[in-house]
Amino acid sequence: MRLIICRNYEQASAWSAQYIANRIMKQKEKCVLGLPTGSSPLGIYKELIALHRAHVLSFSHVITFNMDEYVGLSPDHPQSYHRFMWDNFFNFIDIKKEHVHILNGCASDLEKECAEYEACIAATGGIDLFLGGMGVDGHIAFNEPGSSLTSHTRIKSLTTDTKYANARFFGGDIHAVPSTALTVGVATIMAAREVLIIVSGHSKARALQATVEGPVSQMCTLSCLQMHAKVIIVCDEEATDELKVSTVRYFKDIESKNISAS
Ligand code: GLP
Repeated sequence: MRLIICRNYEQASAWSAQYIANRIMKQKEKCVLGLPTGSSPLGIYKELIALHRAHVLSFSHVITFNMDEYVGLSPDHPQSYHRFMWDNFFNFIDIKKEHVHILNGCASDLEKECAEYEACIAATGGIDLFLGGMGVDGHIAFNEPGSSLTSHTRIKSLTTDTKYANARFFGGDIHAVPSTALTVGVATIMAAREVLIIVSGHSKARALQATVEGPVSQMCTLSCLQMHAKVIIVCDEEATDELKVSTVRYFKDIESKNISAS
């Protein structure tokens, strides 16, 4: 695992976007990305859009699979993750519409939808780089505490904590937040060839501590990434508030020598 500690959110976003852009440019024929929603990746999406506008980066050979979607929200619902992705990213880059994959939370057969999503990822050749955020309780995608660490795409109930955290996108009304979602599993993310997690702010400090220093545990599904061969966590200073001083020093030291700790 590499831990890249940046001064602030803007620097963490710029570092991550450049890393992703390099990967996209390196894989000239096809690059398959896993993508998240939420506030954490917004800075990365802005930076990637800027690189595209500056004619530095094309997404014409990029194929995407989003992590999750609320059950019951149609793709044109303002709070659906479909809308989020088109409004914040896809509308501003040259990605082909048929290359975008997002789970359909209104599918008539949700289990079939999930099984087909996994099959589609496999048929595309697997995910090269999965970008993710961090829930305050250490969840990845919608793999809430207690989720199986060997899980694949499926239907999950959301915890009250997650509904509270996401109520800000629903006018602050927790009752407006759907109670279930479709989400890729922990094993789906673990199967990606590389994973990059962006973490920002003091509210994520406990989750980051559990992910980096804690045991691998279903109660913090992100901790499973300790078992992944190629993971980069990019964070700002505030997110490190609960890490041991020695842990912060170790990762800063190793990165200053530009040696990969993974
Ligand atoms: C939701 C999403 C996660 C995301 C998390 C944190 O639960 N399903 O993918 O990482 O929120 O969101 P934010 O980045 O807004 O803090």
